[in-house]
Amino acid sequence: MAQDQASARTSSSRAPEDMPTSFGFTTVAEGQKQGMVNDVFHKVAERYDLMNDLMSGGLHRVWKDAMVSVLAPPKTPAREWTLLDVAGGTGDISTKVVRRSNNAVKAVVCDINNSMLNVGQDRADKAGLSELIRFSQGNAEDLPFPDKTFDAYTIAFGIRNVPDIPKALREAHRVLKRGGRFLCLEFSEVDVPLLDKVYDAFSFKAIPPMGQVITGDGEPYRYLVESIRKFPHQERFAEMIREAGFERVTYRNYTGGIAALHSGWKF
Ligand SMILES: C[S@@+](CC[C@H](N)C(=O)[O-])C[C@H]1O[C@@H](n2cnc3c(N)ncnc32)[C@H](O)[C@@H]1O
Repeated sequence: MAQDQASARTSSSRAPEDMPTSFGFTTVAEGQKQGMVNDVFHKVAERYDLMNDLMSGGLHRVWKDAMVSVLAPPKTPAREWTLLDVAGGTGDISTKVVRRSNNAVKAVVCDINNSMLNVGQDRADKAGLSELIRFSQGNAEDLPFPDKTFDAYTIAFGIRNVPDIPKALREAHRVLKRGGRFLCLEFSEVDVPLLDKVYDAFSFKAIPPMGQVITGDGEPYRYLVESIRKFPHQERFAEMIREAGFERVTYRNYTGGIAALHSGWKF
């Protein structure tokens, strides 16, 4: 007990960037994590979408479509309606949201990594969506947008990469208008017996070698798999969303909890 108190005192005197955080199963200083995460996504950007399909057997598309259905973007908005998709990478969610609205809404993809954004911008240009989807480099912890700008905020498979998650959640709350919706899709904790064992075996034994073959480097995929296991349980994450100021916070599991969609509102 005395030892616990002593170590708590030691850690609280550290600067935030020196505080320990997880990079997959490795403990690193919080200030180191973002650079390591950025290396991962610079390396995988070109093959990111292909690997997503292989790693999830295409399920990530089903989960993302489900997220867009829950969001239900308006097809005839009374005024301009804009989504902010943070950690939006290659623009999957924004593309789906704009298309679901029959091109009636706009989206801003915000990501810290320009390699991911460049792939997304090319794709939006080819799809003829560059008038409706804007790509903006920025950090989820310190969003480059004024207060109360957006009608909805989405983040898909992004929040677990952010070093200071509570800070990112407070930023989400800040940039949303009153009545705005927050939706977060993330890999989560599997709560189906046997499925958890199969999923663990597949994740740790198959995904890094698959990454090695497709992208020439298995390490980024080892990080991705490990970071999923370090992410808070669905209930705890719902609590963190409430702590950031959101109301009516709920979540639903997809595929036995392999992924979960958390929802909250800013009133
Ligand atoms: C697994 S990808 C998800 C991309 C996309 N949302 C999707 O579902 O396909 C994670 C993304 O988070 C981005 N990211 C990591 N840390 C970030 C941060 N602090 N702020 C904004 N984006 C971040 C990475 O650059 C990467 O594009």
